[in-house]
Amino acid sequence: MTIRTMSRSDVPAVATLEREIYPEPWSARIFFDELAQSNRTYIVVVNDGEILGYGGVMLIEDDAHITTLAVVPGFRRMRLGTRILLALVEKALAGGARHLTLEVRATNTDAQKLYERFGFGPVGKRKGYYAGEDAIVMWALDVDADEYGGLLDEIRLSLGREAA
Ligand SMILES: CC(C)(COP(=O)(O)OP(=O)(O)OC[C@H]1O[C@@H](n2cnc3c(N)ncnc32)[C@H](O)[C@@H]1OP(=O)(O)O)[C@@H](O)C(=O)NCCC(=O)NCCS
Repeated sequence: MTIRTMSRSDVPAVATLEREIYPEPWSARIFFDELAQSNRTYIVVVNDGEILGYGGVMLIEDDAHITTLAVVPGFRRMRLGTRILLALVEKALAGGARHLTLEVRATNTDAQKLYERFGFGPVGKRKGYYAGEDAIVMWALDVDADEYGGLLDEIRLSLGREAA
């Protein structure tokens, strides 16, 4: 299993997964546009040539916004989401991020639990952000501080990974 940067040639497969996973899927065009932006990083987890998950991060000044995160249904609860999010946070930190943010469906408590493990906490709500559903806005602040580095080390240890 490898984690690597998403390339343009991955986009058709990612867009297919996107349609299976999300009620309001991003189109292939949106992914192509995202990959063309210099302040975005998209990654995929691949096993035997098959994409099992993907995620993205956008850096604006010192705020990094997790734009998407998904694992294919048959491979959930195997820490792939954690691996992808860790890789995105590492990219964000390498790019100079000091704070992380994201939106998540108010009903998506599974994803919220994952984000809480990465130090995200709810700070507000965007009413009707998704069709017919509110979004919870979550932030993890001061991720450039030693304390957050310690949290990431614990996550790496739990994955059996060496500290970056
Ligand atoms: C959210 C998502 C990416 C998690 O991926 P994953 O690979 O299953 O996550 P992990 O195995 O790394 O889970 C890490 C932790 O998150 C929490 N978690 C994840 N899925 C959970 C679930 N179904 N129920 C309860 N807790 C869950 C748990 O705390 C879990 O740790 P544990 O397994 O030790 O209890 C995946 O469920 C998914 O793709 N969902 C659909 C798309 C989506 O909602 N994306 C987020 C949009 S904001």
